[in-house]
Amino acid sequence: MRSLLKDSDLSPAEKREIIELALDMKKNPDKYAKEMKDKTLVMYFEKSSTRTRLSFEAGMTQLGGHGIFLDKRTTQVSISELRDEIRAIERYADVVMARTMKHSTLVEMNKVMNTPLINGCCEKYHPCQALGDALTMTENGGDLKGKHIVWLGIANNVSNSLVQTCTQLGAKVTMCVPEKDPDAVDGEMEDEAKKTGLYEETTDVSCIKDADFVHTDTWVNMEFINDPKFADEKERRIKAFMPYQLNKALLDKHGSDAKLLHCMPCHVGYEIARDAIDHPNSLIFDQAENRMHIQKAIMVWLLRNS
Ligand code: CP
Repeated sequence: MRSLLKDSDLSPAEKREIIELALDMKKNPDKYAKEMKDKTLVMYFEKSSTRTRLSFEAGMTQLGGHGIFLDKRTTQVSISELRDEIRAIERYADVVMARTMKHSTLVEMNKVMNTPLINGCCEKYHPCQALGDALTMTENGGDLKGKHIVWLGIANNVSNSLVQTCTQLGAKVTMCVPEKDPDAVDGEMEDEAKKTGLYEETTDVSCIKDADFVHTDTWVNMEFINDPKFADEKERRIKAFMPYQLNKALLDKHGSDAKLLHCMPCHVGYEIARDAIDHPNSLIFDQAENRMHIQKAIMVWLLRNS
């Protein structure tokens, strides 16, 4: 049985297979319209979502199956132990996707499960986002081998996955970050990325000048953004990170013609300006759509290989 809890659960060759499958699914949707007929995806969320929920659910519809949404707060998981609830939940499911506060929760779930489990974003990784972004970049520049990707802002769960997947696929990744989100730091992942010779860190934003793609993401994780206890830290981060805001003036100043990515939701005026979201080089909305195509491929690939 195969699951996708973190990016290293898939080899580079397997990631390429999944990206190829997603490209074929996009081109030939009818060929896959019954691929998940009579199959059920259960989606379990401990945090909010727009794209992850919609893209998995719509993806299952397109594959002839059905997606069921569960929110921790409105299920018995809130009054019981997840390790028991999940063993009941998987009896109704062919595949399970979970967005959890902690990666360790996914690991504990997976220990008692006999159904493929997909990480829909935890504090350390967002593998579906990274594979979707690899699909978007492949569509907008061909093979990732030899490409230069810059991540601007804070190192976090999304950048961890992007670093691992893109260095595995032969792209150079420059982390242009003054700080790393302490909850997301994964020294082992960084060491693996460094071994490829394709990973570097800097605080010099001029590195965007020869980038093929520039990515950014929120400076404050979704679970803290409206938390009064995090208000002072939020203000501190806004001051510290403002020089790393993705905007047209920054791109023009450094003569960058990079394509622009943001996993969304965007916090306009903070990590990204309106003129970057609406920039002619922005791929942000194609990127959001591609979450659905890549996740269709991930689900089909996991079931075929389980
Ligand atoms: N990028 C992403 O995972 O979006 P949601 O938080 O809306 O699911």
